Amino acid sequence: MPRTESHVSAGILAPAQDAKRAELLELLERAYWMEMETVMSYVANAAALDGIRAEEVAEALDADVGEELGHARKFAGRIKELYGTPPGTLAFTAEQTSLQPPEDATDVVSVIHGVIEAEAGAIEHYNRIIEACDGVDWATQDMVIDILRDEEGHLRQFERYLREFE
Ligand SMILES: [Fe+2]
Ligand SMILES: [Fe+2]
Repeated sequence: MPRTESHVSAGILAPAQDAKRAELLELLERAYWMEMETVMSYVANAAALDGIRAEEVAEALDADVGEELGHARKFAGRIKELYGTPPGTLAFTAEQTSLQPPEDATDVVSVIHGVIEAEAGAIEHYNRIIEACDGVDWATQDMVIDILRDEEGHLRQFERYLREFE
């Protein structure tokens, strides 16, 4: 845990919050990796999909890449603000087994399921962060609430696609 100078006695940057900051940094690092892996998965699946039925889904994924990258940037920035260091690539472990581009490039439904799973995972993790921030780190909480809203929007969008395909 990086040491902090006591320029402030209130809020998450206060020395008294060292332990809480360490807890939040761990949660924020995980969030950062989730966003980065999502960027990779959406780039690959958007490019992999074939067919008229898949076109709109591929375009939606492409459009989300920029948004997810923006989330990753926000998490990295907040990690730095909390006296942490954004993690290097060697610390990365891939987890999104459901977002491997399908063998059948027209299998849009399996991609939609993978996206829903990733968005739901993000929503669960971000709810955890928001709760962990309560009462001690309003700024992180505020940032993650904004991001949560984006992910809920993504989840609903792909739930609607799913209805159409099933
Ligand atoms: Fe995101
Ligand atoms: Fe998302």
